[in-house]
Amino acid sequence: TAMTTRDALHRPLRDLRISVTDRCNFRCVYCMPKEMFGSDHTFLPRAEILSFEEIARLARVFAGLGVNKLRITGGEPLVRHDMEELVGMLAAVEGIEDITLTTNATLLPGKAEALRDAGLNRITVSLDAIDDAVFRRINDVGYPVERVLEGIQAAAEAGLGPVKVNMVVKRGMNEDQILPMARHFRDTGHILRFIEFMDVGNSNGWRMDDVVTAAQIRDTLDAEWPLEPLDPNYPGEVASRYRFADGAGEVGIISSVTEPFCSTCSRVRLSAQGELYTCLFGGQGHDLRALLRGGAPDGEIGEFLKALWSGRADRYSELRTEETAARPKVEMSHIGG
Ligand code: GTP
Ligand code: 5AD
Ligand code: SF4
Ligand code: SF4
Repeated sequence: TAMTTRDALHRPLRDLRISVTDRCNFRCVYCMPKEMFGSDHTFLPRAEILSFEEIARLARVFAGLGVNKLRITGGEPLVRHDMEELVGMLAAVEGIEDITLTTNATLLPGKAEALRDAGLNRITVSLDAIDDAVFRRINDVGYPVERVLEGIQAAAEAGLGPVKVNMVVKRGMNEDQILPMARHFRDTGHILRFIEFMDVGNSNGWRMDDVVTAAQIRDTLDAEWPLEPLDPNYPGEVASRYRFADGAGEVGIISSVTEPFCSTCSRVRLSAQGELYTCLFGGQGHDLRALLRGGAPDGEIGEFLKALWSGRADRYSELRTEETAARPKVEMSHIGG
């Protein structure tokens, strides 16, 4: 039986989320607003970023502590070249049962098959609107929705489906897209998930008033197509699942703000520069790159991580207020959600 490492609140360590770059070819207004991420913004130089070998080595150490699930994120992970090579290296790690990747889908048509062949199991696509004008305004680089749909199609054809489609819902930005998005993805076999807008980082100007609550999203959907709750696929699943009563498939709602799920949080996050965060809302990461590049053997890194996880008591979303939202926190583009 696999190793289990538990934190101070008795939560096991299962899920490692790996950011491979802080860059993205979109400038979503709620994530990388141009005022903060303009042409003068400096991204991490290559030497600062963990190599594939360093990432794979950490994944092996984490697997030894009980991690069985990996998610590759960014920024936009596919803007980093040769991602299929990293996927292949991660797929070879003993104990890893599920490898998935979160992407804006722009580069999927050329990459989906290679990723699948390398051992990627699934894909999650971020898409916040189905109306082209609304979507272009959100991604803020004029990217057409049609090409994201082509990326989703490419992933499904490569056998990476059912594709999960993540839609962040922000008041005044896209709440009018809840029903159109559901209408589009019903009956496609893809799984649409609505995400409450969260106070990640300090550049998105989050206010509680911006949050369209899970209850409001559920009621909006249910009034159009009655919903029935479904059991989680696995303990600690982030999304609450619902099926359309008419048999048109399922949707998910991710309610980090109004119905937090910290009590089952088994996730740890690695930034592209090798900082480890035990919570999405962390202020300061732990510098694993210094350990790696300082010559620490696997055993020493493993002991460090075990001690770190054992002391973990994070439950930010259960404690969130307008005040905590103003604290210094790592940006979404560094940690990948
Ligand atoms: P599955 O393995 O398919 O169940 O994926 P997932 O739902 O665990 O991962 P995904 O990255 O698709 O999560 C969707 C969104 O939920 C993320 O983009 C975040 O916005 C949010 N989310 C995921 N994990 C956490 C978490 O630990 N805390 C908070 N507050 N939000 C999270
Ligand atoms: N709140 C909720 N989700 C967010 N994402 C980015 N910023 C936020 C936020 N403030 C989502 C992206 C993508 C995933 C990586 O996280 O849209 O789906
Ligand atoms: Fe890029 Fe995703 Fe952030 Fe949009 S939400 S800017 S696609 S990382
Ligand atoms: Fe986990 Fe932190 Fe999210 Fe709570 S807020 S679910 S502890 S990452």
